Amino acid sequence: MSILYASNSNEINDRERRNMNRSRKIASDGMVLLANDGILPLSPLSKPLALFGSGARRTVKGGTGSGDVNSRTVYNVEQGLEDAGFTIGTKAWLNQFDSDCNDALNAFGKHFQETVQEKGWAGVNEALINPYRDPVVPDISKKDLEGTDSYCAIYVIGRTSGEGSDRKLSGGDYQLSEKEISNLLFLTEHFEHTIVVINAGGVIDTKFLRAQKGISAILLMSQPGCVGGLALADVLTGKVTPSGHLTTTWANNYEDYPSFDTFSYQNGDVNDEYYSEGIFVGYRYFDSFGKTPAYPFGFGLSYTDFSIVSKGCSLQGENVILTVTVKNIGNQYSGRETVQVYVTQPQGNLDKAYQVLAGFAKTKSLAPGQEATLEIIFSLRSLASYDEANAHYLLEAGNYYVRLGNYSRNTHIVAAIHVAETIITKQVANKVCKDSDFSTLKANESLFFTYSDEEAEKKSVPIIEVSSQLIPTETVSYESEATLFTTDKETFITLEDVLNYNASVEELTAQLTVEELASLVVGSARGGFAENSIIGAASSACPGAAGDTTSNLIESRGIINLSLADGPAGLRLSKSFVADKDHNIIPGLGESSMGNLPQLLGMPIPERPEDAMDYYQYCTAIPIATLLAQTWDMSLLEEAGDIVGEEMEEFGITLWLAPGMNIHRNPLCGRNFEYYSEDPLISGLCAAADTLGVQAHKGCSTTIKHFALNNQEDNRTHSNSHCSERALREIYLKGFEIAIKIANPKSLMTSYNLVNGIHAANNKELLTDILRQEWNFQGLVMTDWGTTDQPDASFKYGSSSPSLCIKAGNDLIMPGSQNDVDTIINAIGKELTFVDLQTCANRVLSLVVFHQKK
Ligand code: BGC
Repeated sequence: MSILYASNSNEINDRERRNMNRSRKIASDGMVLLANDGILPLSPLSKPLALFGSGARRTVKGGTGSGDVNSRTVYNVEQGLEDAGFTIGTKAWLNQFDSDCNDALNAFGKHFQETVQEKGWAGVNEALINPYRDPVVPDISKKDLEGTDSYCAIYVIGRTSGEGSDRKLSGGDYQLSEKEISNLLFLTEHFEHTIVVINAGGVIDTKFLRAQKGISAILLMSQPGCVGGLALADVLTGKVTPSGHLTTTWANNYEDYPSFDTFSYQNGDVNDEYYSEGIFVGYRYFDSFGKTPAYPFGFGLSYTDFSIVSKGCSLQGENVILTVTVKNIGNQYSGRETVQVYVTQPQGNLDKAYQVLAGFAKTKSLAPGQEATLEIIFSLRSLASYDEANAHYLLEAGNYYVRLGNYSRNTHIVAAIHVAETIITKQVANKVCKDSDFSTLKANESLFFTYSDEEAEKKSVPIIEVSSQLIPTETVSYESEATLFTTDKETFITLEDVLNYNASVEELTAQLTVEELASLVVGSARGGFAENSIIGAASSACPGAAGDTTSNLIESRGIINLSLADGPAGLRLSKSFVADKDHNIIPGLGESSMGNLPQLLGMPIPERPEDAMDYYQYCTAIPIATLLAQTWDMSLLEEAGDIVGEEMEEFGITLWLAPGMNIHRNPLCGRNFEYYSEDPLISGLCAAADTLGVQAHKGCSTTIKHFALNNQEDNRTHSNSHCSERALREIYLKGFEIAIKIANPKSLMTSYNLVNGIHAANNKELLTDILRQEWNFQGLVMTDWGTTDQPDASFKYGSSSPSLCIKAGNDLIMPGSQNDVDTIINAIGKELTFVDLQTCANRVLSLVVFHQKK
């Protein structure tokens, strides 16, 4: 009888309550106050509050697709404000919008049902490409305002997006809709103050909001998980002083982003994406090319003010140590401040961005007048640039100016580190080079951001000398072929033998036949993508989990299967399911994580056996990754990971398919909400902290994803990301490298797209040479779902091949199909060696052993 981890009780339990409270705290710390003329924090009102906007009741907790988490409840903004003591005076308007949304959802559902019935899986993909969007908001009339307090109104702008489709530049998505603008014009005319809350997972156009008189405050609520409404009320009322800071640049105009006209569908070509901006992504571009953002990278207001003073900068070995005091110089509110350190590198043979983030730290809550001392440490090595011509990382000679402040456009130089002679920090070989010829942006110092005292600061700061002997050159040697696993043990080895230390994992691997090995490297689904692997819910061991490793070797070798479930905004499982008395799960009963998709796909709803039992597995929807990063507090990221790890243990999940750590290259990417930032350092540190939180739970691990260059969702399975090796290494891979070196995640997921002409899933230079040989990654690599099982016809670029996955060191093909198994077996002796297969299977087995030894 298999083990079922879920509970038979539908009652809310202590773990749920505790994790919701923790999530509420994290959510309030990651909301960013963008503007405030003093209206916030909000005092109690004498009359009911006017609350409007698409996110007021239908608050978006997180994005759609596999990144959506099925929590028991979602506290919306209306409930949060009511809980905080406000009476809502605009229920009629909210009811109207609710009913419009229900009508629109029914119409979408009907259309979806017809499409799926007509086209099967192709119909599901169509829905991913054209997802449900809320209808336009109703007008606001004078009648809607009756009885409300004319002192202020709150307007919540809701936005959602998800995998498979990029965001639209139009009204109701990146832009405000005409109705939203007319609503806001009406409110600013009738209320003394209008507070705008942005309930979106990414950037929107804020031009109108910033220009309109009467908009007194703008708060980025972001997508805050299942208790977001409560967390928002905490910030609005001053129970929590806002301390979130942006981790992505919010532009004045969409056209200010470097890839504005070529990104995804923008130039009509979703097959080839040229990363022509090179290393100039996000603030690296804005600061270097004369663009003034609406809200710069790192920006965020508080209800109080802080002074930030450098107490000295020194070198200890390769590390720069900056000591800083932060004082709350306000007189009313406590609050936390984020101290950010940037470095301006010298221009040399390689051009550099105006500045790069080098380190940061956040204070605890400081009462008015209270002071704290922080130490910010970063290694000089981390500032090295990549020279493609010589395949090495180097610190070019010159001054490295250390800047201190609380956002990217508000820093002052506090020290200069003088590198007398160029230092080569690491020698590698050229890998994953550009597959086509296109030029990348070159810096022009005359366009760099500057401020009045900058030159004077450069001359007045202390200089720290660095000798070239300080940093030895690391040299990577790329090992040749893997060796065959052999054993002279004649007894039949099982997993039990390995767990009892009677045999090693390698000896078990050595005894496996080609068929057994091929079975191990393919996930448990055998029907094929088109038949039974519903995206994000292909596990048969744990309903709603994304997939399992194979159970084919349980009887013969005792090799158990592992369950893998999505994130990143919590643990994605079905809320409930039904099993018979022998613990056989009855598919189709209970609350599927995919709604009624199984029925639409023609999967029959079975009879409920008399002795069947209901099982419940409610998980906490934590805030989206971007909000987590906006806390700039790595202990909160670790706590978010701890919430997930606790729930993984409870429900028997080994691998969390998160964190997602692609770079916010362009604000229209449909999955940016699942990712942390446009900056690789903060992305890497967040993923590391999240991982440490999860992996503190025995037998649980993260799967950092999507490796690499998965920055576009339209045509994601067949698009070719063309990128220079320098930008790849300095921007897009760097976060992964940081996370691996700090936190050792046990697993990594490849992306769907091609990287410089080769599918990421089949890219040996990426998965073996860089990941394992340069970075020493010891874990398991898996594919994204159905990578090897996508239709090829009519696409410029085909799909990845199962045997080339194994050849590249992609150990596990998920969720798997019989075709994957057969193709791998047939490829042995041709494009694949037996050793290649053993190597991947051995890594799957090592993970099974890791899980079992918990
Ligand atoms: C997504 C992955 C996810 C997987 C399993 C894919 O569609 O791209 O991020 O982990 O599904 O649900």
